[in-house]
Amino acid sequence: MVSYGIDFGTTNTAVIECLFTEHGMSTTKYGESDQPFPSLVALHAEKPPIFGMEVKKRRGQLKTDGYTIISSFKTILGGNELIPVGDKEYSPLEITAMFLKYIKSSVELKSGSRLEDAVIAIPVDYKPQQRNALREAARLAGITVRSFVSEPSAAYIYCQKQIAGTSNAAVFDWGGGTLDVSIISSEHGVIHELAVAGKRLGGNDIDKMLARHLHARVMQESGVPKSFEDMSDSERDQIMDRSEDAKKRLSLEDFAPVRLMRYGGKAMIRHSISLDEFQKLTSERIEDAVKVLYQAAQKANISLGQLDIILMVGGSCEMQLIVKRLEEIGEKYHVPVSRPENIQWAVAGGAAILSGKNPSYKLQDDFGVLLSDNSVYPIFEAGQSVPCTSPELSFGVVEDTTNAVFILVDGKKNELERMVVPIKGFTAEGLRLNASIGADLIAHVNIRSNYAERMGIETSVNQLNFSYCVE
Ligand SMILES: Nc1ncnc2c1ncn2[C@@H]1O[C@H](COP(=O)(O)OP(=O)(O)OP(=O)(O)O)[C@@H](O)[C@H]1O
Ligand SMILES: [Mg+2]
Repeated sequence: MVSYGIDFGTTNTAVIECLFTEHGMSTTKYGESDQPFPSLVALHAEKPPIFGMEVKKRRGQLKTDGYTIISSFKTILGGNELIPVGDKEYSPLEITAMFLKYIKSSVELKSGSRLEDAVIAIPVDYKPQQRNALREAARLAGITVRSFVSEPSAAYIYCQKQIAGTSNAAVFDWGGGTLDVSIISSEHGVIHELAVAGKRLGGNDIDKMLARHLHARVMQESGVPKSFEDMSDSERDQIMDRSEDAKKRLSLEDFAPVRLMRYGGKAMIRHSISLDEFQKLTSERIEDAVKVLYQAAQKANISLGQLDIILMVGGSCEMQLIVKRLEEIGEKYHVPVSRPENIQWAVAGGAAILSGKNPSYKLQDDFGVLLSDNSVYPIFEAGQSVPCTSPELSFGVVEDTTNAVFILVDGKKNELERMVVPIKGFTAEGLRLNASIGADLIAHVNIRSNYAERMGIETSVNQLNFSYCVE
């Protein structure tokens, strides 16, 4: 049996195929030039679209030829922004669908099997409309989403062999667009997500910071100050590209040359940036990232000292300063910090394993309503299999008011969402709550008064944690 996992990344998209036989499991990586597919699409009013590595390599030329290059579409997926190309406009969903179709056909061409369904990994705080849009884009591309899995949990599943014997792990997945941290424990093949925390902060933001910094220096020296925003698209693109190159160089060396061509009216500019300068520039962002690790541990109700390992994955974990900071933390709390090999494939690999094992998802923690006496009335209890629907729950109104406030919490009474339900204020007024958790791993809660049917409100909660059985 063959199964597929997709890590649809802001910068790179990796696909892994898992083949399960009686002798065990083998995996095949799919990308371009031994790397994951760059998440890039180039559109032209008259010519066919171009994708992936070709766009990355021929970026400058394609722009000159009138192509519009679209990157980071994962971050705008599910939103209303439209991208104009000639006299047409494309939604992020359409662009994602085209890209996934390209991925599907490239994989099928090499593999000889059909990529018809897959588990897709998503950031921990991916919103309901983003999940729906991703599912729809995959469907348009001819791929059925078997289920979603959070990116760090998928990475953990892939690395499980390398970290055997550990029970509590923090996975620190720092990519191009987001940082996702997950605290995970595992026993007997069951993986429990104890807590997740995320931040919209990625390598792209670091590139932007460095680009602005370099730009300011170039302008200072040239004596003709022009703001970053006033530069042409191609000049901004160029300095962003050179900044990313320099950043990567500074992951290995302590000095990076930067060369700009036809920038701000100059034919050629030679510059450089030192590691020291780069680290000073980015140290606040690095500290922001470190805070997310503490936040995740706090949400899981454990101290960092109770961790058995910190796993660093994602391209941005190559930066020397984040390695140094996490190693310092590891030393302080006596926790080993590991950067597994093949880190750019780990998320897709875990998703592929999950897809093949057809795992059962269970709610990791209680999910309920905080009552006025500070107790929790569970809507769903820990261990509940997902998808699920709750029986209708009834609540009474205890005060004379026109609003009933429902606080949705996890088992540790952390507030997940607050619902303010308009009511009539009759003493005999009852409120009815219906809830379900779908395959998208989101809880949908609906509350309405029996006197004001149409005044009911609905909310979704996307911060639930799950356990997966993978054996
Ligand atoms: N050697 C390196 N040094 C520093 N940064 C690097 C290095 N290699 C890659 N990166 C950065 O890592 C980011 C891409 O990482 P990755 O492929 O994990 O992200 P992604 O999965 O596409 O994004 P996300 O998970 O946020 O959606 C880019 O910002 C890239 O510049
Ligand atoms: Mg990623």
